[in-house]
Amino acid sequence: MFPTKMDFSDQILKWYKTHQRDLPWRHTRDAYKIWLSEVILQQTRVDQGMAYYKKFVDRFPEIIDLAEAPEQEVLKLWQGLGYYSRARNLHFAVKQIMTDHDGIFPETYDEIIKLKGVGEYTAAAIASIAFGKPEVVVDGNVKRVLARMFGLEDVSKKLYNRSKEIMEKELDHERAGDFNQAVMEFGALQCTPQSPSCTRCVFKSSCYAFSNDMVDKLPVRETKKKPRKRFFSYFILHPQEKSIVLSKRSDDDIWKNLYEFPLIETISEANADNLLQEPDFINWFGNKAGIAESSKTFKHQLSHQTIFAKYYEITNIDAKLFPEGWKVVSLDEIADYPISRLMERFLED
Ligand code: ADE
Repeated sequence: MFPTKMDFSDQILKWYKTHQRDLPWRHTRDAYKIWLSEVILQQTRVDQGMAYYKKFVDRFPEIIDLAEAPEQEVLKLWQGLGYYSRARNLHFAVKQIMTDHDGIFPETYDEIIKLKGVGEYTAAAIASIAFGKPEVVVDGNVKRVLARMFGLEDVSKKLYNRSKEIMEKELDHERAGDFNQAVMEFGALQCTPQSPSCTRCVFKSSCYAFSNDMVDKLPVRETKKKPRKRFFSYFILHPQEKSIVLSKRSDDDIWKNLYEFPLIETISEANADNLLQEPDFINWFGNKAGIAESSKTFKHQLSHQTIFAKYYEITNIDAKLFPEGWKVVSLDEIADYPISRLMERFLED
């Protein structure tokens, strides 16, 4: 184990110095850019996130540039990353900074955490990395590293609390940003979930899990709930030649304000016969409408739900019946609208 406090932080900082990846947000102290990188990296791998980070910094180099952009443009640039509430919150929060802080990024944890979408992790990451404040982060990588190194057998909130205590105890106050990033980076590169590189690990002799042959047992796995199954039938409508109908999603869910084809969700897998009987189908398309063609089923896995989506081409529609808010868009224009990954996959196909 680690006989003195400095053993762990010194060693991991030393490891970080030689092993850290050269990432663009590690060359700046600009809180806005660091925040952008942290939001992108939530639920996104570094190699995928990098291109988005560059696109965003390029198009919106300053807080004011993002604050003044229309939401549709922000969502369009985010397209493909998923978890769109991250982009909506980011956009809301830069406006908060403009009105509440004169456009200057706040420097303390307590002020940063008041920004929309910013939780304990992100507030501590920004405060420590951009402003050198002695705040600690706890994410999945940190929990895994500490659970193995210190033999933590807790799960969920308890594991979070124990990890935070250890991070606070081990924190080198002068190098908080590097210390936080070092632990996360160590989790991402060396102490990985599967097949960590233990035999060539600098902590081999002090790691609890390695010494006790428990590397594959720590952190203790939680039993996950089965994802909910959802069945979507999307309708392809061509009211005029080379045009298609899009509907803006207003439900307060993960796809809010994205565009998609008109949709009916059913509780089990639908087929053409069932759909013709659906009240929405008749209200939207009239009773002469028919289904000309259907696609294969696209299976789309999200963290808490599995979507089964099928696309149907509808004929004999009565455009006068279309609900308010549907847009007839020319096929060339479709690329200007932010759409979900699910829709994108169909269009690519
Ligand atoms: N994961 C998310 N943010 C990170 C960072 N700044 N360094 C290492 N891993 C991270």
